[in-house]
Amino acid sequence: MKRKWWQDAIIYQLYLRSFKDSNHDGIGDFQGVISKLDYFKDLGVNAIWISPHYESPMDDNGYDISDFYRVSKDYGTIEDVKELLQKAHQLDIKILFDLVLNHTSDEHSWFEAAKDPNHPNHQKYHDYYIWQPPKYDEHGNKVMPTQWRSWFGGPVWEYNEPTNEYYLHIFSKKMPDLNWRNEDMKRDLKAMTKWWIDLGVDGFRVDASNHLEKDWTFPEGHPGYEYFSSIPKHHEYLEEMGVEVFYPNDIMTMGEAGGASKEEAIKYCGFENKEFDMLIQFGHCWADCDWHNQITPGKWAKGTIDVKHIKNSFNHWFEMLKGQGWNIIYWHNHDQPRVISHYGNDSMYHDQSGKMLAYTLYFMPGTPIVYQGEEIGMTNVDYENLDDFRDVEVFTEYDNFMKLGASHEVAMQALRDRARDNARSPFQWDDSLHAGFSNVTPWMNTVKNYHDINLAKQKEDEHSIFNTYKKIFQYRKMDDISSGTITFIDIENPDTYCYKNETTHAIYLVVANFREREIDVTLPIDVKDYECFMSNYTDRPLMTQMHLKPYEAIVYKIKK
Ligand code: NOJ
Repeated sequence: MKRKWWQDAIIYQLYLRSFKDSNHDGIGDFQGVISKLDYFKDLGVNAIWISPHYESPMDDNGYDISDFYRVSKDYGTIEDVKELLQKAHQLDIKILFDLVLNHTSDEHSWFEAAKDPNHPNHQKYHDYYIWQPPKYDEHGNKVMPTQWRSWFGGPVWEYNEPTNEYYLHIFSKKMPDLNWRNEDMKRDLKAMTKWWIDLGVDGFRVDASNHLEKDWTFPEGHPGYEYFSSIPKHHEYLEEMGVEVFYPNDIMTMGEAGGASKEEAIKYCGFENKEFDMLIQFGHCWADCDWHNQITPGKWAKGTIDVKHIKNSFNHWFEMLKGQGWNIIYWHNHDQPRVISHYGNDSMYHDQSGKMLAYTLYFMPGTPIVYQGEEIGMTNVDYENLDDFRDVEVFTEYDNFMKLGASHEVAMQALRDRARDNARSPFQWDDSLHAGFSNVTPWMNTVKNYHDINLAKQKEDEHSIFNTYKKIFQYRKMDDISSGTITFIDIENPDTYCYKNETTHAIYLVVANFREREIDVTLPIDVKDYECFMSNYTDRPLMTQMHLKPYEAIVYKIKK
C-alpha cells in the first residue's frame, strides 16, 4: 500500500469548548484555535481532531446536533472554519472533524417533524428515527418496549405522547437514534458529509460507529447492549459510507468501536477494506475497575490497575492488525479521566508518572493521538459541588448512586475519579486568571492547580512533561517509530511496562515501572549496545537486573 499521510501523523485531540476562548464568553472557539496554531507546530503535531462544532443545544456538548450544516454560535461562524482550514493547511496541519451519524438532537428539524403527526413533513421524517409502540402490564399500565439501558445510565426509551410511541435513544433522551435502514436518511447524511469534505476538511473521527444498527426484533434484555451495539449489519453501512463518500474523496477516517474480534478489526480498518483507515479501540482504557462494587458500579468504582491487561490489550491490536491494518495509540479521550490521575499519580509523582506514561505510550508503533492537556500533565478536576460538573452523564449517574445507597461524598469522589468532565476542564495556558483560557468565568471551572501546572511554566523548563512530549514527537518522526515492530518484554509481569520497538533507523527499548512502589525487574535481553536516551529520574546504563524507583522509566536506544 502506498504510504498515507496519516501513517506519519501525530494527531492532537482538541476539545473545542475548553481550548481557548477568543471572544470573552467563557467558551473555547475557532478563533481561539486559530490564534494558537503555532502551538501545534511547536509541539510537533500535524493533525488536529476537533470535537463537534455543529449547531447544538449542547445537551452532550455538541454530540447532539440540531443542524449539521451550521456552526454552533458558541464556536464561531462558517467563515471561521474556512479561515482555520486555510491557515492550518498553510502550516501543513490537517484538520479532522467529528462526524456524528448515529443520532441527532431532538431539536433537529427532522425529529421535530418525526414526533409531530400534524407536521407537514411528518410522513417523511418519522421513519428517520426508531419508534416502538408501548407495551402494557397486567394492570393495563403503559410500559417501555424493552428494559434496555442507555450508555448514560437511564432507559433507552422516551415516550412521545402525540404518536403514542416510544423513540429509541442509546445516549441521552435528547439524542434520538437515527434509522439506518431508511434510504432517504442515509442519502441526507452522505450529502452532509460530502458538504464538509468540499469545504476542505481532511478527515473525520466517526462517532459511535459500531452502534448504527439495532436489533429490530427488540428482544428483552437488561442492559441489552448486545441489541444495539456491534450488530454485524453496521459494517454494511460503514462500507457504504466508505465506498461512496470517504474513499473517492481521499478522506482519512477513524472509527470508534469497542471489543472487536480480529475478523471485525480487519473489516473496520484492514488495508484492503473500505470502512475506515484506522480504528479507535478501548481495550486499554478502563483497566482498573472494581467490578464488585455495588454502590458506584462499573467504570465508576476504582480498583487496582491491571498493567498486564493494558499491555496485552495493545499487543492484541498490534498482533491483529500486523501487516493488515494500521493501529492508533492513545491513552484517553474526552470520555475518560485524565491519564495522569487515572494510571499515574497526579500529586507526589506528577512529573515522574507523567513522563512514564509518555515513554510507555509514544515509543510504540502506530499513529498517536495526544489528548488536549495530556502534554502538560493536566489532572482530574477538584470540584466540590455537583453543580460544578457539566456532563449530562454525571447527573443521571449521581441519581443512580444515591438509589444504590451511596453517600453524597462517595458519589462526589466517584465523579472526581471517573467522570468524563475530568478531561474537559479548560486548558491551562499560564497562571493568570482562569489559566489564560478566557478572561471571564469559563463555562466549566478551571482546576485550581493551574498555578503550578501550566504550559507557560513548562515551556521554560527543558525537562518538563511538555518538553518531553516535544522531544519524543521529534524522534517519532525522525526514526519512523510509527512503523516499527514491537516486542513486549515479560508481558505477564504485573508491574512493569517494557518493550522493544525496532524501526529501520533505530531500536528503542522502554523499561518502566507502572507502580507507585519500588520494584525489581529482570530483563532477559542482550543489554550491550544500548545507550540511555531519556529517563524520568537520572540516566543510567541498561542492566539485566534493575531496581526501579516509583514510576521510574528509562528509554534506551541503539542507533542503526
Ligand atoms: C462517543 C463520544 O465520544 C461521546 O462523548 C458521546 O457522548 C457519544 N459518542 C454520543 O455521541
